[in-house]
Amino acid sequence: MTTRPLIIAPSILGADLGRIEAEAERIKASGAEWVHVDIMDGHFVPNISFGANMVRTLRGVMGDAILDVHLMIAEVDAKATNYANDNTAGITVHYEACADPIETLKQIRISGKRAGLAIKPNTPFDAVSELAPYFDMLLVMTVEPGFGGQSFMESMMPKVSQARTWLHQKGYSDRWIQVDGGISIATIRTAYSAGADTFVAGSAVYRSEDPAAMISALREAAAAN
Ligand code: DX5
Ligand code: ZN
Repeated sequence: MTTRPLIIAPSILGADLGRIEAEAERIKASGAEWVHVDIMDGHFVPNISFGANMVRTLRGVMGDAILDVHLMIAEVDAKATNYANDNTAGITVHYEACADPIETLKQIRISGKRAGLAIKPNTPFDAVSELAPYFDMLLVMTVEPGFGGQSFMESMMPKVSQARTWLHQKGYSDRWIQVDGGISIATIRTAYSAGADTFVAGSAVYRSEDPAAMISALREAAAAN
């Protein structure tokens, strides 16, 4: 569906946060392109994870690793660019949490970061298709946001396919489509076939004894014939 190399982004939420430096070393050595950072506020989602301080800490321990920040926070418009630091490559906001998604996506781009727009399982692609000029990446959630370790929702695949086809037809073939939630060796091929090219994997990577081998295996499983 796309000719670009696919991206695997281990979610730091799946790491042992009590050993963050050791976990950072494991991930730095793993060959992951991006490190996904889930920010949860206890309002937009029921869970609280960490905030901008953790992003700063990660900046210190992750070396040159590129952070892919996923903001699951309410009233995100004025807060999104607080996460734009040197190591951050992309900032993703939820459509459902934005009062003014166009302006917020513009501000993320002005901060020099890739602008991501996420949609929860109950939000159709049609709700955001006209925002394509303003986002660089669409994140189609494949679980209800809030927790790692949930089961992949295969029922989201028609949404991924619809988005990939629509973006291609309208001249936005360069947009990334990310999937997040329940990605594993067993599910990544389905998401790749539907048109995703960026895959967040939390528990699959961090619960593995060998994250580097798991990331290679995910990559191979996605593109397997
Ligand atoms: C869920 C988060 C995910 C989560 C993925 O709200 O956005 O990034 O950490 O974890 P797994 O891969 O375990 O489903
Ligand atoms: Zn996430």
